[in-house]
Amino acid sequence: MARSKKSTSGAESAAALGAPPPAPRGELAIRTLAMPADANPSGDIFGGWVLAQMDVAGGITAGQLARGRVATVAITAMTFHLPVYVGDVLCVYAEVERVGRSSISIHLESWASRGRLSERVKVTEGEFVFVALDANGRSRPVQREELEV
Ligand SMILES: CC(C)(COP(=O)(O)OP(=O)(O)OC[C@H]1O[C@@H](n2cnc3c(N)ncnc32)[C@H](O)[C@@H]1OP(=O)(O)O)[C@@H](O)C(=O)NCCC(=O)NCCS
Repeated sequence: MARSKKSTSGAESAAALGAPPPAPRGELAIRTLAMPADANPSGDIFGGWVLAQMDVAGGITAGQLARGRVATVAITAMTFHLPVYVGDVLCVYAEVERVGRSSISIHLESWASRGRLSERVKVTEGEFVFVALDANGRSRPVQREELEV
C-alpha cells in the first residue's frame, strides 16, 4: 500500500477547532536537518538518529545547568509519535523537570518542520536523566549557586 507522507498534524486539528496550534514544551536546545545519510533502509529517518539528537540536546541543557561534564544515566520514557522524513528540520526542546543531588531529569520533545517549514509536528518525546560528573567520571553534586543564574 502506498504510504502518504502527509501526516495529520496537531496544528491542523487545532486550527479546525479554532484552538491555538500546539506548542512545544521547554526551550529550543538544538535544530538540525535530517539528511539522507540518517535514513533507515525504508527511506525514513532512523529512530536512533532522532534519539541521539535528543540526547545531545538534553546533554547541552544539563551541561549548562551543571556547568560541566554530564553523562546520560537513563532514558526512562521514549515515544515515537510520527516518522521523521529526509529534509525535515528537527527541533529539540528541553524542559528541566527535576534536579537531584547530582542528577538532572529533562523532558525532551522533537518537533519536525515538514516541507520547508510549512508544517510543524511533534514527532517524539522522552524523559532523560543526566548526571553531573567530576574529572574522574564519578557523580558530583550540582551546586545550588549553579542553579540560581
Ligand atoms: C553516571 C554514573 C557515573 C552514575 O554512577 P552511580 O554509581 O549510579 O552514581 P550515584 O549512585 O552517585 O548516582 C548518581 C545519580 O544518578 C541517579 N541514577 C543512577 N542510576 C539511575 C537510573 N537508572 N535512573 C535514574 N537515575 C539514576 C541516582 O539516583 C543519583 O541521583 P542523585 O545524585 O540526584 O540522587 C555511572 O552510572 C556511569 O558512568 N554510567 C555511564 C554513563 C555513560 O557513559 N553515559 C553515556 C551512555 S553511552
